[in-house]
Amino acid sequence: MPSQKYPRVASLKTADAFLARLQELGVSLPFDEEVTPGEAGTLAAPIEWSGGTIGNRFCILPMEGWDGETDGRPTELTKRRWKNFGLSGAKLLWGGEAVAVQPEGRANPNQLMINEHTLAGIAELRQIALDAHQTQFGSTDDLLLGLQLTHSGRFARPHDKKVIEPRIAYHHPVLDKRFNVQGDGPLLTDDDLDRLVDDFIAAAKLAQQVGFTFVDIKHCHGYLGHELLSGYDRPGRYGGDFEGRTRLLRNVTAGIRAEAPGLAIGVRLSVFDFTPFEPGEANIGAPSASAPYGCAFGGDGTAVGIDLAEPKRFLELLKHLGIDLLCSTAGSPYYNPHIQRPAYFPPSDGYLPPEDPLVGVARQIAATAELKAAHPEIVVVGSGYSYLQDWLPNVGQAVVRQGMADSIGLGRMVLSYPDLPADVIAGQTMQRKKICRTFSDCTTAPRNGIVSGCYPLDPFYKDMPEREELARIKKETVPT
Ligand SMILES: Cc1cc2nc3c(=O)[nH]c(=O)nc-3n(C[C@H](O)[C@H](O)[C@H](O)COP(=O)(O)O)c2cc1C
Ligand code: SF4
Repeated sequence: MPSQKYPRVASLKTADAFLARLQELGVSLPFDEEVTPGEAGTLAAPIEWSGGTIGNRFCILPMEGWDGETDGRPTELTKRRWKNFGLSGAKLLWGGEAVAVQPEGRANPNQLMINEHTLAGIAELRQIALDAHQTQFGSTDDLLLGLQLTHSGRFARPHDKKVIEPRIAYHHPVLDKRFNVQGDGPLLTDDDLDRLVDDFIAAAKLAQQVGFTFVDIKHCHGYLGHELLSGYDRPGRYGGDFEGRTRLLRNVTAGIRAEAPGLAIGVRLSVFDFTPFEPGEANIGAPSASAPYGCAFGGDGTAVGIDLAEPKRFLELLKHLGIDLLCSTAGSPYYNPHIQRPAYFPPSDGYLPPEDPLVGVARQIAATAELKAAHPEIVVVGSGYSYLQDWLPNVGQAVVRQGMADSIGLGRMVLSYPDLPADVIAGQTMQRKKICRTFSDCTTAPRNGIVSGCYPLDPFYKDMPEREELARIKKETVPT
């Protein structure tokens, strides 16, 4: 298997071995040999933001489980995940998971929705996280909880997990063919987007009604908010120049300020993007397009390079809009997963990693740091840390200490090891058997219609009958 040429992080057993590997790769990552436990530690230090205090430097990133009821309410599986988020010890829960503001904007038929019918269920999720946190840590005063609001756009699958029903902002040279957009099929109209703005505002009002402190107006991962940012050639009010491409955010923000005063706003942003990738020679990921490539927000036109000039302008806009919460991420799990969630093992619809996944981790950390340096007044959460595995706390602490981000976002790691933040802050040795080794089962399962979870390491999912089906699917589909 070609990816075997990259040493596994679990085999880099000492700090020297880890640092030597980084040097071999020519990759620079901040690293603290010692992680300071307890209240005096960097990772336990509070963050002050315009809305108050966030109790420490860990953040739980939004993660859906493809496990809601088809009417958009949570199930017991959803509740279990939110309980774990509360138990984690992280003091920032960024959005919980993607919650659709329109039925046709769902990423799958089991995605949560927010409306009058589902509101009690959404409120319950928040309460479950709060109660778990209160019981375990004695206070929720410094716990910040938001709700991620979304429209899945090109990746909408509202009716059938296997049937994509793209709602697109513009025609894309690669993604149209790959994701079932016929010829010059219709785009979402400006009127559609005006209605969507209204639905985001209505959703935000409901979120405020049940106690969420902020809503995330999602602009990442190829979903609609993100796609609009690269709609350079889209005609009309929601495309073309920077003003047009950011109209959705500006209009939603104005509506929230008017109709839900006091509700804070955050944005999860893919701060750079590359061309879609595809399995190339020996199934190793290869770019599907080359320069000049004009569909990447935060791209440099080469298809695989970064230019943060526009993302910096976007942060300037956030500041102007009075938004001081940013969660930085990159690319899309659908078309370039290696830059979005670096992994040793690809998901079933992926490709073998074209680079040591440590390179992908370092790329996200560096881009996030550049944005933080440009806008120190914005609270910046970083993503993509799970691949660091045993060394996550050492890099996380150094990132925060050096001001490269304010908070360390945890995605997959918290599915396998929910109480990692609590352990690190308490100075406990990391529980090795719980460390996410990036097997990608939590991505492969939902790609194949199975609920998401950590099947390899979480005893609860290990025991589920779906595990066997997943093993069979993996044998047939995962690139090797
Ligand atoms: C199962 C799964 C579900 C996810 N769902 C969401 C989501 O609902 N919203 C979102 O913004 N990102 C979502 N993500 C992306 C994560 O928030 C995160 O950016 C990614 O996993 C990289 O961080 P990590 O290296 O810590 O895993 C999801 C990731 C996984 C693995
Ligand atoms: S299935 Fe578990 S070990 Fe694999 S990537 Fe997801 S969280 Fe990590």
